[in-house]
Amino acid sequence: MIKFLDLGKQPLANSFIKSVDLKKKEKKFRLSIAFNKKNYLVSILNTIPKEMMFNEKYPYKSSESNTMKSSFKKLSTKIKKNFDTENILEIGSNDGPFIKNFDKKKIVGIEPCENLAKITRAKGYRTICKYWNIDLAKKISKKKKFKLIYSANTLSHIKDISGIFKAIDIALDDQGILILEDPSLLECLKNNAYDQFYCEHIYVFSTIALKEILKKYDLEIFDVENTKTHGGSNRYYIKKIFNSKIKIKKNVVINLRKERKYGLHKITTYKAFARRVKLSKFKLSKLINKLISKKKIIIGYGATAKSCTVFNYCRFNNKHIKFFYDTTSFKINKFLPGSKIEIKKYKKLTLKDTDYVYLGAWNFQNEIFKKEKKFLNAGGKFITHIPFPRIIGRS
Ligand code: TYD
Repeated sequence: MIKFLDLGKQPLANSFIKSVDLKKKEKKFRLSIAFNKKNYLVSILNTIPKEMMFNEKYPYKSSESNTMKSSFKKLSTKIKKNFDTENILEIGSNDGPFIKNFDKKKIVGIEPCENLAKITRAKGYRTICKYWNIDLAKKISKKKKFKLIYSANTLSHIKDISGIFKAIDIALDDQGILILEDPSLLECLKNNAYDQFYCEHIYVFSTIALKEILKKYDLEIFDVENTKTHGGSNRYYIKKIFNSKIKIKKNVVINLRKERKYGLHKITTYKAFARRVKLSKFKLSKLINKLISKKKIIIGYGATAKSCTVFNYCRFNNKHIKFFYDTTSFKINKFLPGSKIEIKKYKKLTLKDTDYVYLGAWNFQNEIFKKEKKFLNAGGKFITHIPFPRIIGRS
């Protein structure tokens, strides 16, 4: 493992603070990112016990975003058309935007966060409130293996990578399909999106790394789709190696080539990324401090885990950003970890309230810009650090 980036001491990105706890000391850890020369995997070095992050207080609900809901719906239609949907397993079913597109009798959700598992159970979907591992895989696939296993933005949160795939190999039918979806390392590097790294994102996967890892478990990628969700993700279609009925699509080679061409197999690429990240911090701080010195008001939009990384790395606080707007009920009236900036219930933006808006949820830029058309048309401006720090207005 070669460490290439140090994002400093960081609190747990989704541990939003109640006002009564503002004076309490927060648990912090060093956020360093490393590259594994052998299998090309990029991961954070110090990990936090899963129970501290994924529990009954987990704030993220995928159904709260229209972009995510429509992405899951489109994928479900495609899956029904192309694959056997007789029995499906979803690892990390969250509040159900994927499973809700399928027959209740044919799908099972795994969701370790009780608050989320309750939501899908209440709608009649079988949901097992446990962490994904080998024991669970054996138990749930004893009678019948799964024809399709789906997991989005979840496997990158699980430290025991060998356990993940051994368990999948156990639960997946020999003719079955595994579909994985996670942020793309290539897009992360191209966008200088260092905020994809935080305590929950132990890995940011690439096609070249997954290919290497899957080999060990007799699994192989037969198709890759590049999607726009979460700032650029990859959807990997995977099968058992000895299932020769499914042919490997050209897209796999195209993605492998693209990633090698960019240099995802070389440490020099990551060192160059680290240099760009430092420059991004310098430029964003300069931009925000300049606006503050001109007495401009800046607020934040979307109190994301990503913002937590940026704000703690750049050392921003409520002197820089007055408050954040967010639509997530759990986050409202709480404070961002580390920077302790207040989160308020979302209200449509107006120039009366603010001069500039830092785009914390930059991965939903299109959805947000559509919603805030009036503000933009009236001359309202956003600030983003993706792919480099700048002010953006009406295009
Ligand atoms: P998310 O994309 O999950 O980012 P992370 O994984 O880094 O936390 O979070 C998006 C956040 O933005 C979530 O708290 C909801 C908020 N949000 C709004 O407040 N308004 C919006 O219109 C959208 C799309 C998101």
